[in-house]
Amino acid sequence: MNMSPANVPKETLKTTLCFSIQDKVGGLEGCLAAIKAMDISLTRIESRPSRTKDWDYDFFVDFDAADAKQVSNVVEQLRAHTKVVNIIGSENTGDSVVWFPRKMTDLDSFAEKVLEMGEELSSDHPGALDPVYRARRMDITRIAKQYRTGQAIPDVDYTAEENETWGKVYRRLTELYKSHACREHQYVFPLLEQNCGYSDKGIPQLEQISRFLKDCTGFTLRPVMGLLSSRDFLNAFAFRVFYSTQYIRHASRPFYTPEPDCCHELLGHVPLFADPDFADFSQEIGLASLGASDEDIEKLATIFWFTVEFGLCRQDGELKAYGAGLLSSFGELEYALSDKPELRPFDPAKTAVQKYPITEFQPVYFVAESFKDAQEKVRHFAANCMNRPFSVRYNALTQSIEVLDNKEKVLRFARSIRDDMKTLTNVLEQLG
Ligand SMILES: [Fe+2]
Repeated sequence: MNMSPANVPKETLKTTLCFSIQDKVGGLEGCLAAIKAMDISLTRIESRPSRTKDWDYDFFVDFDAADAKQVSNVVEQLRAHTKVVNIIGSENTGDSVVWFPRKMTDLDSFAEKVLEMGEELSSDHPGALDPVYRARRMDITRIAKQYRTGQAIPDVDYTAEENETWGKVYRRLTELYKSHACREHQYVFPLLEQNCGYSDKGIPQLEQISRFLKDCTGFTLRPVMGLLSSRDFLNAFAFRVFYSTQYIRHASRPFYTPEPDCCHELLGHVPLFADPDFADFSQEIGLASLGASDEDIEKLATIFWFTVEFGLCRQDGELKAYGAGLLSSFGELEYALSDKPELRPFDPAKTAVQKYPITEFQPVYFVAESFKDAQEKVRHFAANCMNRPFSVRYNALTQSIEVLDNKEKVLRFARSIRDDMKTLTNVLEQLG
């Protein structure tokens, strides 16, 4: 799956507020009465024990505001009842932090926010004038439209023609992987053949692949109707979620597609998400994207483009491909490893502002030393080069995002890391 840099126009401002109260009579009632009196469309309210010592409970309120003024009004009204009111996120409100998903289920709201492709095909798409192909796409994208977090992804009963197209692509690409794909891709691919039904006989199913990835690295797949905005697409990586199309390119041109399809997703992207270091690296970009400004989203999308889509790395002195855009295009895969393109070392600050063509081979590629090194560099970039007034961490136990927006929360997080390090040190000592 790729994403589009454009943002989807919004009619309302999806907003999340957090307010804290003490456990005393009337504390919560006053806040709730103030919210009720404002006639806003509440979409969720939830509470948690407070993480700050002066307060007992934190309340998170999601609502759709008519405009930025209404968001300010709500904050003002709540401040009459409690001093601690923070806007966690609000879409398109100028200086405020942009709304971002905090729980896995928040991704459900992206289901129909596709920008192009999916049901509608551009005029240069080989299937644009084929009514049978278009109807088939509608059938398949309906799964993504109806899918919600926690459900099993329904299998698609692929036709003989679709499986044949897959087989042609599969045979040609897997031949090249032996010499061109990075070590991690080559290591995982046979496991996908053994565990997920990968073969040239037919298209494997997302649900089976998603279960395998979850066992390997905690990554899961979600079906998607078409191109998402960069923000929505990158945000999902914070939860180790990858949006994957289920449909395949038109049978008339098996070696060409103007958009991501299941060949791109399953052959290019999926193998790397089974690698722990690559999974960590991908999630780092996703975490950096939460609540980021539009300008920073564009930079992160560019970093994503030159790594997850078109990244190269050097292994045992040889240049190898790990980007899915390369690993799903034999033409560009061979070109990228030839002496024709320019190679530069991966450096997020420089990579983030590099211009790139979308419809032709890349003139410049960035070479990573390792996925671990790339992850550290992206983390440093997010902490030092992005304009974001808070940090975030992913809580894998609750599958939710924790916002580190004050000293106390950061200290608490630092202490938990210190405790983990102590435990690990003890284990190492015991192992000798
Ligand atoms: Fe992609």
